[in-house]
Amino acid sequence: MKHEKILVIDFGGQYAQLIARRVRELNVYAEIKPHTISVEKIKELDPKGIIFTGGPNSVYGESALAYDEDLFNIGVPILGICYGAQLMAHALGGKVDTAPVSEYGKTEIDIHEGGLLTEKVSPKTIMWMSHTDYIAEVPEGFKVTASTPVCPVAAMENVEKGFYATQFHPEVMHSVEGMKLFEAFVKEACKCACDWRMDSFVEESIKAIKEKVGDGKVLCALSGGVDSSVAAVMMSKAVGKQLTCVFVDHGLLRKDEGDQVEAVFGEDGNYDLNFIRVNAQQRFYDALAGVTEPEKKRKIIGELFIRVFEEEAKKIGAVDFLVQGTIYPDIVESGTGHSATIKSHHNVGGLPDHVDFKEIIEPLRDLFKDEVRKSGLELGIPENLVYRQPFPGPGLAVRIIGEVTEEKVKIVQEADAIYREEVEKAGISRDIGQYFAALTNMRSVGVMGDFRTYDYAIALRAVMTSDFMTAEAAQLPWSVLENATRRIVNEVDHVNRVLYDCTGKPPGTIEFE
Ligand code: XMP
Repeated sequence: MKHEKILVIDFGGQYAQLIARRVRELNVYAEIKPHTISVEKIKELDPKGIIFTGGPNSVYGESALAYDEDLFNIGVPILGICYGAQLMAHALGGKVDTAPVSEYGKTEIDIHEGGLLTEKVSPKTIMWMSHTDYIAEVPEGFKVTASTPVCPVAAMENVEKGFYATQFHPEVMHSVEGMKLFEAFVKEACKCACDWRMDSFVEESIKAIKEKVGDGKVLCALSGGVDSSVAAVMMSKAVGKQLTCVFVDHGLLRKDEGDQVEAVFGEDGNYDLNFIRVNAQQRFYDALAGVTEPEKKRKIIGELFIRVFEEEAKKIGAVDFLVQGTIYPDIVESGTGHSATIKSHHNVGGLPDHVDFKEIIEPLRDLFKDEVRKSGLELGIPENLVYRQPFPGPGLAVRIIGEVTEEKVKIVQEADAIYREEVEKAGISRDIGQYFAALTNMRSVGVMGDFRTYDYAIALRAVMTSDFMTAEAAQLPWSVLENATRRIVNEVDHVNRVLYDCTGKPPGTIEFE
């Protein structure tokens, strides 16, 4: 299926994906390409418009990035942002210089009358600036459409030629009316019909996977989390039984989660794929016996996970492709596009050394978490799985302080299930970034009936966060905490006390270990 497309040409800025996302929010498909892309290739892709991203370099001097000089002769509208704006000015005969005053952060912008991109923006508005160079003179045929007291050209355009540029970053959240510029670019300048939807993404991805895989064999490590589940289902729709999913149950999952994963993906489940569940619980408990140091626990789990996965993979024999559920924030966090590996290190201890495969497929690498969820729903994955809480690769092992034993896993599983039930019952589960119960290694004295008890304390945690890099403790309704506490102490053996963690991140982390 052919659909409208905007190309985002990446000049090394931090926000390339955010720009693509803004365009996708307007229901136009956006794809990111490197600044070295040739004009020939661009023409093949046949975009309705092109956006140049920002970047840390200067458009003049040695640090200037290479690009195909014919870029400005393609005949489709171009929007240049920050570095992209300066590149446009520089390439078309304007002047770019070091700004006498750099601007960083939220900046008040004066919008001039008569700009096509800025037509619907308020005369004074806040946009996000981050620049040391600026456009000192616009190229011939351009008019200035926005400015600040220290930045004479905050935006410029040449409508006739289809060239638009902003020194500020309309894509970031702090640019309050930024979306209006994208809307004008997409609808007015590029004349897009805006009829692309997530279902088209899913459809196209399935088609592209089919073409790529051919009759090859595909292997996927399924964790039961949102990302790997969506990736697996997409692969299954594309190549059916050519896909084998290996689910390693390390015995550190939430209550009943292993069975739930099997119910969805196993033989009696909904999907056309080969599913292998490896019940390796005891091997993990044995390997963790006596280990208390958090990093050592992670390492043991990661390494054993790989070993178990490899053992299964060997039984299958050589495969052509290995699927990873890497999503866009995983790539950003690693900085340079090598994040597929970093995430899997983070998740399961690294890529298997002894699995014979030719290539990695990452069908979700361009998506944000909420887009992954939307794709999941499009693919018909049950809602409770699609909206599952983030869960660390090493599982409950990092939610049990000190040594992990099977008995402690049961305690934390039960307590966590009750806590989740109470939060869900209160109807606030989707408002909270992440919430879970952890088992402190602390035992304390209590009284139950007429008897003295000396048992464990459970800690409850709930945080508000959008990026998981920083977080605040959630102010849960007291009734939720009260109900959860009462039920946990009554229903879970060996727990006589419940504590609520009020620490933010920083200084705490979200997980306890
Ligand atoms: P922290 O504890 O670092 O957690 O504040 C931030 C987010 O990352 C998750 N997390 C992990 N995810 N493997 C993962 O896949 C891990 O080893 C791991 N450790 C923490 C955590 O649940 C939170 O969402």
